[in-house]
Amino acid sequence: MNPGMIDRLSALEEEARAEIARARSAQELEQLRIRYLGRREGVLTQLMKELGSLSAEERPAAGAAANRVKTAVSTLLEETRAGLDGGAAGGDAEDLTLPGRATWQGARHPVTLVVDEICAVFAGLGFTRVRGPEAETDWYNFTALNTPLDHPAADMHDTFYLAPGVLLRSHTSPVQIRTMQEYAPPIRVLVPGMAYRRDPFDASHAPAFEQLEGLAVDEGITFVDLKATLAEFARGLFGARTTVRFRPSFFPFTEPSAEVDVSCILCGGAGCSACKGTGWVEIMGAGMVHPAVFESVGYDAERYTGFAFGMGPARIAMMRYGIPDIRLLYEADVRFLEQFA
Ligand code: PHE
Repeated sequence: MNPGMIDRLSALEEEARAEIARARSAQELEQLRIRYLGRREGVLTQLMKELGSLSAEERPAAGAAANRVKTAVSTLLEETRAGLDGGAAGGDAEDLTLPGRATWQGARHPVTLVVDEICAVFAGLGFTRVRGPEAETDWYNFTALNTPLDHPAADMHDTFYLAPGVLLRSHTSPVQIRTMQEYAPPIRVLVPGMAYRRDPFDASHAPAFEQLEGLAVDEGITFVDLKATLAEFARGLFGARTTVRFRPSFFPFTEPSAEVDVSCILCGGAGCSACKGTGWVEIMGAGMVHPAVFESVGYDAERYTGFAFGMGPARIAMMRYGIPDIRLLYEADVRFLEQFA
């Protein structure tokens, strides 16, 4: 009654295979599944319904053929869909065209890089690196540095007091005192560390910031040694053509005192936006150690002289790496820090 059943089944299988091979999306495959295997209208489902009207002799072979085609088509649909997932939607299949994944690498903070570089330049001039506490007494932070406690710098508005007479150091200069108390001259030290001031947290100020202090004490040290040392430092850090300029200034613990500028590293002194058109960038305060400071540590102020200086390595890092906002240095954002790897 239905002699063509097996032929119709193979024709259907061939057609389904061709259609599935052309499918380009999971959606197209789903439409094909419905078209061939759909519970009601599926072409194969319809054919299988006709099996019941076959003769008892024909039925087993036709039924087996129908089942084989059904399994073949649904397996092919599944395999094709898995292939699409792997390729386009990031499944299990390996995509050899993807770029390799590098493991994440940490980096040293730009200020640390600059501090290490500065220390390396001064190491060549005989300076040793030392540290001191960030919580200080007002004697180390002010009094021993010839700064009376009624000086504006010691005011509640400018300094973080932890307890009466104890504060977060407002500069690294108290480590001058601690070093001289511990060692006899000759002294050549460099002191990196944090300092704290009640400054606003904006693009160019931070209430906690790095300082780098220097101190040299010996017999016969003069202002010439200060100028030569700082000029050598500037050339070592910023390049051989860099020059320095000293402007008269005041610090209670040095006399005479100076603000030290370097020729702008960006424009070489011609004037640009970084140096506000002046050709110079201020990088530190400096001066000859005040005799009163020697007296507070029991050094013979008639026998010894020395110089001291203090700079802000964060400012230097910002200048060197073109960092526009000081807050970037304190956000611990790995996307920022990664750039220094
Ligand atoms: N301590 C000074 C400051 O924080 C810098 C300085 C250090 C000046 C040593 C002279 C000598 O501003």
